[in-house]
Amino acid sequence: MARILVTGGTGYIGSHTVVELMQQGYDVVIVDNLSNSNKDMLEGIAAIVGKQPDFEQVDCNDSVAMKRVFEQYADIQAVIHFAASKAVNESVEQPLLYYRNNLMSLVTVLEQMKAHGVHHIVFSSSCTVYGQPTANHLPVDETAPIQVALSPYGNTKQINEEIIRDEAHANAALHATILRYFNPIGAHPSAMIGELPNGVPQNLLPFVTQTAAGLRQQLKVYGNDYNTPDGSCIRDYIYVVDLAKAHVKAVERMLNAQTEEQVEVFNLGTGRGLSVLEILETFIRVTGVNVPYEIVDRREGDIEQVWAKPDKANNVLGWKADTPVEEVLLSAWNWEKKVRGL
Ligand code: NAD
Ligand code: WQD
Repeated sequence: MARILVTGGTGYIGSHTVVELMQQGYDVVIVDNLSNSNKDMLEGIAAIVGKQPDFEQVDCNDSVAMKRVFEQYADIQAVIHFAASKAVNESVEQPLLYYRNNLMSLVTVLEQMKAHGVHHIVFSSSCTVYGQPTANHLPVDETAPIQVALSPYGNTKQINEEIIRDEAHANAALHATILRYFNPIGAHPSAMIGELPNGVPQNLLPFVTQTAAGLRQQLKVYGNDYNTPDGSCIRDYIYVVDLAKAHVKAVERMLNAQTEEQVEVFNLGTGRGLSVLEILETFIRVTGVNVPYEIVDRREGDIEQVWAKPDKANNVLGWKADTPVEEVLLSAWNWEKKVRGL
């Protein structure tokens, strides 16, 4: 079976994807500098699949170390490139860190792939590239216009996509699948792996689970005066395990030469938008745990509503996100309880 290099593979989405790859029989080597993850994830992965993936603690920007990885694992056939910095606020405060890490790591990975005859890459992009779609583009399909980025982080995803297109134009051998994720949430049903945010969570679900666990006093709901049915913002929350499975499909599609196109883009979402208050109400209902909250002012830069039209991924990739949100929220809670020893 083919070997897949997974950069950022000890991270949140990466670790879930490694599990799905290994369960399908792929050999995996993870490259991660552990800047936003923990080596314990390797044990979590092993507890689920029965063995640890190969792991190299390497920075993707380090071309000498990356060259060594490609030489050591000469059977690499495809790369899934998750490694990136992803905190929107931090990117506003430290744009150069984001441009260096997110742009140079992709350039280095593409250079080393080319030097070692590896021609397939799956890239983690984001629905953030669409900004607030106009009403005629909701739900959002892949043809919706890309809008001016609201943060340096968002801009790195747009530039990353352009880097991939330009390199594919120059290098006919390269095949790339760009996956635009909506809002990934939840944890593996085993509760062996999950999301481990550093410090105070910026994202909704980890804040909800930490509040339920008593680590935070109350959740701030950022605005209830939006033009939505209950006034709170709407997102397309996608289960991380469903998301992970899409990466396996994307790798298979390229390795089996099922497409003529050099660069393909897929939106990965459920096709269903849920509001902040709906998520909160559902979490409280399925877990039976109260989550104190207050409505506060809108958060600067928030999009009012966005959800995916995932038809292309459903029909072309043969993938569908179909785990019920109740199950997803319970998985997030079970993971939080495990981490906190509750
Ligand atoms: P994460 O922070 O949990 O995982 C990223 C991993 O990459 C971490 O383990 C980190 O240590 C590693 N890393 C960062 N820079 C590195 C470098 N230079 N070299 C080696 N390793 C490096 O994040 P995640 O949520 O799993 O996100 C994975 C990818 O998906 C990222 O590219 C992110 O931008 C993208 N994405 C995430 C979301 C989301 O909401 N989580 C949404 C859309 C897109
Ligand atoms: C979801 C909703 C908040 C926290 C971010 C990035 C985006 C992408 C996904 C990577 C919003 C509300 C949140 C809280 C709240 N990441 N909220 N109280 O903003 O959709 O997107 O993560 O590519 O680029 O910008 O996700 O989880 O931060 O927020 O009310 O304490 O929850 O206002 O409506 P968002 P989020």
